Amino acid sequence: MSLVHREVFERLEHFYDSVPRDVAHVEEYGGLVLFVRNGAGWPFYARPRPGAAEPPNAADVTAVRERQRALGIPEAFEWVHENHPDLLPVARSAGLAVLEAPLMVLDPDALPSAETLSDVPVRLADPGSPEFGRDVATQRAVAAIGFAAPGTALGDAGPVARDAAVVALTPRRVDEERAQAEIGRRAFALAETADEGALAGGMAMRVDDVAEIAGIATLPVARRRGLAAAVTAALARHLLDSGTGLVFLSAGSEEIARVYLRAGFRRLGTACIAEPAPVTA
Ligand SMILES: CC(C)(COP(=O)(O)OP(=O)(O)OC[C@H]1O[C@@H](n2cnc3c(N)ncnc32)[C@H](O)[C@@H]1OP(=O)(O)O)[C@@H](O)C(=O)NCCC(=O)NCCS
Repeated sequence: MSLVHREVFERLEHFYDSVPRDVAHVEEYGGLVLFVRNGAGWPFYARPRPGAAEPPNAADVTAVRERQRALGIPEAFEWVHENHPDLLPVARSAGLAVLEAPLMVLDPDALPSAETLSDVPVRLADPGSPEFGRDVATQRAVAAIGFAAPGTALGDAGPVARDAAVVALTPRRVDEERAQAEIGRRAFALAETADEGALAGGMAMRVDDVAEIAGIATLPVARRRGLAAAVTAALARHLLDSGTGLVFLSAGSEEIARVYLRAGFRRLGTACIAEPAPVTA
């Protein structure tokens, strides 16, 4: 591995360890840490413990899984393979199914403008706008409908399904999200038309000068028109323009990685995303 790549992997490691700490507390299990969210919201994963003397072992994985079950949260684990190459066989032997997702980093010189990728305009949610909370709820609804139809194929679900999936944020959550957006730690993007509303969306999380783009999704009815690539490019441009030095994401499959390739991202490594393997009869 080159020195440049080593340095990028170290920044990613710091990012993954930092991003949950504002809103979660940390429990340690040998070579693993489990982030347990304080209050309501999307539950976090467990990951390797920074500075651990020993790499995580199967007993650590089992201990975390017991705790996750007791807390009623998903038995989820995430790590960067290049930083923890020993964990993949350990996780599998401990009964986890591991998705090896392409880990991609933005090449700023290869970033196209969103307008060249799709004729549907993309806008960033404005934290100063009274519509901000509704925009965040809409981005989540688009993600809920999009991820419910995995893969990249067209489908039937569209604006009606999206509207039925909108869950309004409490005023307190809106204030929290707004505060994060105002200091540049969060960004939300929507591709929308005047007639149909939001058809695709995504968000970004930033810590210092590193940001991850996540939750990219397009309503099945609006797929294969360049919307996801445009949303990704718009978020990446916003992040670069606000001083982010390293923008990355993980793609759910090799097929989905092609979307991000067109938005200027290049494969650097592998993000491992693990959950319990299905039980076979
Ligand atoms: C993955 C996903 C976000 C892609 O959304 P999308 O808006 O359809 O993506 P794009 O339109 O940018 O690209 C998809 C395909 O359409 C093609 N395309 C883009 N614009 C096009 C156009 N104007 N005409 C014809 N085809 C076009 C792209 O070349 C790409 O083709 P490929 O699969 O052969 O590479 C969407 O399928 C989805 O929501 N999936 C479920 C959730 C998910 O997995 N999200 C990603 C997590 S990492």
